[in-house]
Amino acid sequence: MVETKRWNVTKTGTTNEMIIIEAAQLLKAGETVAFPTETVYGLGADATNMDAVVKIFQAKGRPQDNPLIAHVATKEQLYQLVENVPSYVEKLIDAFSPGPITYVLPSNGTCADNVTAGLSTVGVRIPSHPVALKLLKTCNIPIAAPSANLSGKPSPTTADHVWEDLNGRIAGIVDGGPTGVGLESTVLDCTQDIPIILRPGGISIEELEDVVGKVMVDPALQDADATEKPKAPGMKYTHYAPEVPMWLIEGESEKIQAMYDKLAAEGKRVGVLANRNTLEKLNVAEKISLGESLEDVAANLYLGLRKFKQADVDIILCETYPEIGIGLAVMNRLRKAATRYIEN
Ligand code: TXA
Ligand code: MG
Repeated sequence: MVETKRWNVTKTGTTNEMIIIEAAQLLKAGETVAFPTETVYGLGADATNMDAVVKIFQAKGRPQDNPLIAHVATKEQLYQLVENVPSYVEKLIDAFSPGPITYVLPSNGTCADNVTAGLSTVGVRIPSHPVALKLLKTCNIPIAAPSANLSGKPSPTTADHVWEDLNGRIAGIVDGGPTGVGLESTVLDCTQDIPIILRPGGISIEELEDVVGKVMVDPALQDADATEKPKAPGMKYTHYAPEVPMWLIEGESEKIQAMYDKLAAEGKRVGVLANRNTLEKLNVAEKISLGESLEDVAANLYLGLRKFKQADVDIILCETYPEIGIGLAVMNRLRKAATRYIEN
């Protein structure tokens, strides 16, 4: 056990120079510090320091074969970590960085071997959250940062979630309030002529294609039988799982109501996770609203999964969403969290 410091900063990080400096000093000294990004909270450590990076894997209980994303403040710093950058990456950087996108590129060896899990590529991202950017600028080193949750738990969208999972296991948490997007960055393989989405996230395929034309999706993501091996090692793990079984139910709200009634009649305590419109049509005791738009659903999903862990239910029923825009990322995370998928 270590003592975990917790600092409160404003969302812009402007009035908190001393806190940012203290957190940056800990990072430079090889310690782990959690901080907000626009997607989810990250658990940072010096990406060039192998011993510091080991602390991330230990704190999270993360499998060693799952590489970490290196976070930097500027485009120039991004170029300093990689070998060669295809011209479409420059276009993407200009359009979407800083922002919720990670570029997988040939590593030039600047990041420690345990950041890349021995791969020849490295994932690099410039987050847009003002606190993250300030911290990265202040320490002026690449920061390896996975989501700041215990491995297997939903990613944290508030500092309380980080505290719940990692208090006593890390040096500090910079609390900048709830994150915005709520789901992780899009991980894009940029080592081929055509970019490939390895993990759908904050930047949608439609947005990417508007800038660079054709973009592919790793076939393993759509492969229900899991015969394909995902190219992002992290995607093979059942992540994001709530501690209660969750069934995904396709179709209209009547289908959720019917399943709810059936399970309730069997004496089961059932919780429903759905957006506000759907919940208004249902007659159920335990429910958590994911808001209205697809963006709301993305922002509230991990909080919802964590809340149901604490609620006293035997099973969670959740609706499905259209796989357009951020909906592709929402459904990717829901499929990974679900124990059963009931087709319409
Ligand atoms: O939004 C985010 O990306 C958050 C915030 C903190 O930046 N970070 C995050 O990191 O989600 P993590 O470690 O939870 O997920 C990183 C994903 C994993 O699926 C990993 O396998 C993949 O990115 N990845 C990292 N480096 C890779 C590489 N060189 N090649 C393929 N996949 C890689
Ligand atoms: Mg994660």
